[in-house]
Amino acid sequence: MSTASATDPAGEAVGAGMATGERELADPEVILSARHLTKHFGGQRSLFRREPVVRAVDDVSLDIRRGETFAIVGESGCGKSTLARLLLRLIEPDSGSVIFDGRDVTAARPEALRQMRRDMQIVFQDPFSSLNPRMSVGQLVAEPIITHGLATGAGVAREVGRMLALVGLLPEHADRYPHEFSGGQRQRIGIARALASRPKLVLGDEPVSALDVSIRAQIINLLEDLKAELGLTMLLVSHDLGVVRHTADRVAVMYLGEIVEMADVERLFERPAHPYTRALMEAIPAQDPAGRRDTALLEGDPPSPSAPPSGCRFHTRCPHAIALCRTTAPPLAAIGPGHVVACHRASEFPARDVLAIVPGSEARQRRIALFAAASNEASRRQPE
Ligand SMILES: Nc1ncnc2c1ncn2[C@@H]1O[C@H](COP(=O)(O)OP(=O)(O)OP(=O)(O)O)[C@@H](O)[C@H]1O
Ligand code: SF4
Ligand SMILES: [Mg+2]
Repeated sequence: MSTASATDPAGEAVGAGMATGERELADPEVILSARHLTKHFGGQRSLFRREPVVRAVDDVSLDIRRGETFAIVGESGCGKSTLARLLLRLIEPDSGSVIFDGRDVTAARPEALRQMRRDMQIVFQDPFSSLNPRMSVGQLVAEPIITHGLATGAGVAREVGRMLALVGLLPEHADRYPHEFSGGQRQRIGIARALASRPKLVLGDEPVSALDVSIRAQIINLLEDLKAELGLTMLLVSHDLGVVRHTADRVAVMYLGEIVEMADVERLFERPAHPYTRALMEAIPAQDPAGRRDTALLEGDPPSPSAPPSGCRFHTRCPHAIALCRTTAPPLAAIGPGHVVACHRASEFPARDVLAIVPGSEARQRRIALFAAASNEASRRQPE
């Protein structure tokens, strides 16, 4: 089981006993609360065989706090996007629940869900395919404003202009079409469109990984500025630990459909406890503040999510596995303030700074400085 809440790893934080759809969060600091989310794909029976069941997300629980950036990290195929889409109910869970801002997302009927969608927006990975090429930038940004009734008549154009300015585009860009823009500018259009409905929570699913390396830092910094300016909560899905370390407040590490570790970003990077998290961090290129690595981070591919290993799902790749690991799944257990980990042997591993360049937060400061320098350099070389 993968139950991960920073406040209470095993607890049911949502208001038990209240009517469905009217439940309130027990903790007002929590904007989104997921419990026991599970999503399996496949399993359909055909004439001769049954498709394998892909256990994309298995019994995951977590809380996201108001105003934070909560990151989900892990290798390709571990279930990050599926989990994020379940949280926003862009796909239906097999089981489990999501409460957003006091409202039951999983039980919401279409009209209630449409209202909630206004508050939960997504910035897509690929700014090339996510924007309708036949719509002008003005139409693309106006669409959510009109759909949600946020302005009418001349007010729509005014609001579009405001959104374009917010993301660093010019008013005259409203009359142009997506293909006339660079990748970074298109992602700015995608961000303006996501923010146009004045959401409370924005999901960025690999928001910079399709972009040219030289402009990734610009877009990440833009998202950070907007988050602060508009008081947003961000859900960031990324396999890029450099970006996560720079932007996130808390991080959940996923492996084969489960959360294996969750902590504040400082603590996770300074004291990673799960062997998988430690392996991911050791794979960050030391001199690359943006963590630009798109290839597999660990030796060997993860096992298939349609046949996850018994016991601890990481045991087939873990250098510390013992007999118990092969038979018994470790529960997520608290090992420090807001820090939970699913590993039988976590308490045996000494705390260490896996980056080992300079200790602790000094390393973080150095990375942030390098990241900012990369960003400035990129702006200088490639003004948009
Ligand atoms: N619609 C679908 N139908 C069948 N299998 C799916 C579907 N969506 C995802 N999967 C499978 O579920 C697992 C998790 O996929 P998911 O896209 O959530 O991973 P991810 O961590 O986001 O990977 P990536 O980093 O490559 O984006 C994968 O094995 C994937 O093939
Ligand atoms: S439970 Fe065992 S196999 Fe799993 S991460 Fe811990 S030591 Fe490794
Ligand atoms: Mg994904």
